[in-house]
Amino acid sequence: GLIRKPASFVSTISDDRGQELLYAGMRISDVFKEDIGIGGVLSLLWFKRRLPDYACKFIEMVLMLTADHGPAVSGAMNTIITSRAGKDLISSLVSGLLTIGERFGGALDGAASQFTSAYDSGLTPREFVNQQRKANKLIPGIGHKIKSRNNPDLRVVLVKEYVKKTFPSTPILDYALKVEEITTSKKDNLILNVDGCVAVSFVDLLRESGAFSREESEEYLKIGTLNGLFVLGRSIGFIGHYLDQKRLKQGLYRHPWDDISYLLPTLDSQTLDP
Ligand code: ACO
Ligand code: LMR
Repeated sequence: GLIRKPASFVSTISDDRGQELLYAGMRISDVFKEDIGIGGVLSLLWFKRRLPDYACKFIEMVLMLTADHGPAVSGAMNTIITSRAGKDLISSLVSGLLTIGERFGGALDGAASQFTSAYDSGLTPREFVNQQRKANKLIPGIGHKIKSRNNPDLRVVLVKEYVKKTFPSTPILDYALKVEEITTSKKDNLILNVDGCVAVSFVDLLRESGAFSREESEEYLKIGTLNGLFVLGRSIGFIGHYLDQKRLKQGLYRHPWDDISYLLPTLDSQTLDP
């Protein structure tokens, strides 16, 4: 009989071989017939399933409110500087994306895992904060350079309002808000930031929506899904900054000397002995 050639790799999210492109089994024509939106497409390609309407809207909300936060943040600056150095769209975009990490925009996976394991292990919010402080570790998803209790981040307010109104239950968000009460009582800017708020809400979505088994939600947290939300959202803004600079015909950027502290060693004060 016929011997099937073993496949070199496996793929489970899309298929372009037939007459119609399939996203996780859904025909592209149905994607439009059923008007599932970008949240619906993301659900199919990231999670291989349809999610309830409120979840798709939440995903869209996250992409919309992480899309940009002005030209001054690390990623946008990188994109702008790269664009002004005459580079192309992709180089400028990835230059911005490369700044996303534990400090800027990439604290979602860390926040999800830290808050969730603290909650699951029964630590009180205060015990969790103390434990982190003792270990000399910053809590991912807490803190902001300019936003604070007195200058609240409206993005976070919008996420909280939506999640509270539409999700079946929000134990991890509630836990993170109790942690925020403690951290902001120490320092006004130690708020639950946009990364943190989206992350803990997403854990509540994974665990409480009924769309995922417990094993599946643990797996999505483990493989680092949530930073993808910020990466995807902020790419919209970075591309915007790239186009803006090109449109404005901005020339090569050079940082002014007077904004740099030059603190070089003086050679004559150095000894050559090791
Ligand atoms: N957990 C606990 N303590 C904190 C945290 C935190 N996440 N962030 C700051 N602190 C404390 C610091 O230990 C420091 O304490 P000290 O004065 O006793 O030494 C004080 O607050 C100030 O710390 P800085 O690092 O100067 O704070 P800054 O305002 O410059 O940093 C930042 C803001 C980078 C966001 C920081 O809070 C942080 O790294 N947070 C965790 C990572 C994170 O969530 N990043 C995403 C931010 S949102 C976004 O990028 C879209
Ligand atoms: C952002 O969304 O880029 C920020 O919250 C970071 C910042 O410093 O504004």
